[in-house]
Amino acid sequence: MNVMTGITTEGSSVWGTRYPFHPYPTGWFMVGFSDDVAPKGVKPLRYFARDLVLFRTEEGKAVVADAHCPHLGAHLGYDSVVEGDTIVCPFHAWRYNSVGKCVEIPFTKSIPPQARIRVWPTVERSGIIFVWHDLDGREPSWDLPDYDESTRREDSGFHRLHDDFGGAHPQDIFENAVDFAHFPGVHSTGKTMANGELQIDGPRLMSPIKMLAVGEEKPADQAVPMSLAMAEVVGAGLARVASTTPYLPGGTSISWVGATPVDEKLTHYRVSFFLLIAPDCPLTDEQIEAFDKVSTEVNKQEQYSDGKIWPHKAYVARPMLSAVDGPILKYREWYAQFHPRPSA
Ligand code: FES
Ligand SMILES: [Fe+2]
Repeated sequence: MNVMTGITTEGSSVWGTRYPFHPYPTGWFMVGFSDDVAPKGVKPLRYFARDLVLFRTEEGKAVVADAHCPHLGAHLGYDSVVEGDTIVCPFHAWRYNSVGKCVEIPFTKSIPPQARIRVWPTVERSGIIFVWHDLDGREPSWDLPDYDESTRREDSGFHRLHDDFGGAHPQDIFENAVDFAHFPGVHSTGKTMANGELQIDGPRLMSPIKMLAVGEEKPADQAVPMSLAMAEVVGAGLARVASTTPYLPGGTSISWVGATPVDEKLTHYRVSFFLLIAPDCPLTDEQIEAFDKVSTEVNKQEQYSDGKIWPHKAYVARPMLSAVDGPILKYREWYAQFHPRPSA
């Protein structure tokens, strides 16, 4: 620890990064939006320092697999062709099905039994493509929770990817969910605090948050909150934030947030934002539309606010916390379950 500043960074020695833990945690991660690939579409990806290919079968199933063909190494993300539920390598036309098995080699009936590409566990939901990452290639140890988004307002909100956050570790990024004191400074809210107990359920951490309006002088239990949010961190690489405000009775704003390491230097940050509108919402369609427009703009801007901090900050292993800080250490203790063991 630096005795002058009290800052303990304690990063690099173990993993060669600025964090004292492995850069690639275990869990579900966003690797794209559904409309990134139409049926028969192919896209190269790179995550967890691995080259990957995303393709969509003619029937519509999204498949994520290791990119390099085991034959002579062509990258399946460039110039390959999808036919039925198979992808055909652009080099010598070996054909792999959607579970990764080679099912055809031109001009021979003999296919080596080990001829396969590794297909990653993939789930598509809420217009987002998720993969399961485990350093040792183990199967998912838990399923993505089900959320009722049946009242989603069509065409509301936005989704967006940006990759300007340097190598911020997903743990650092989702620490925001319990870092109540950063909201006024970074997101221009009024005083922000816990709105009840932090709830932990295995890989899910739910942080209820109350935000007051800027300049609100009344004590928190008497003031009308500007917004009440449930920030749920879903495993190592995702968060789903559901918030309500008195300006949209009967409505809930949803932000799906993903932080997926490309490598140790770069993290892809994705946001999908939309509204759920209950059938008994008293507002007119025009009023909802006006709210949607304004909140979409505000949220788009806010996605960049944290990104000014993350690439440059140190990881303070023993932070100097004050009375208004949220349960940062509890969060870190919970998150530790997603770090691979050093032997991995
Ligand atoms: S490298 Fe893919 S078929 Fe030869
Ligand atoms: Fe934030």
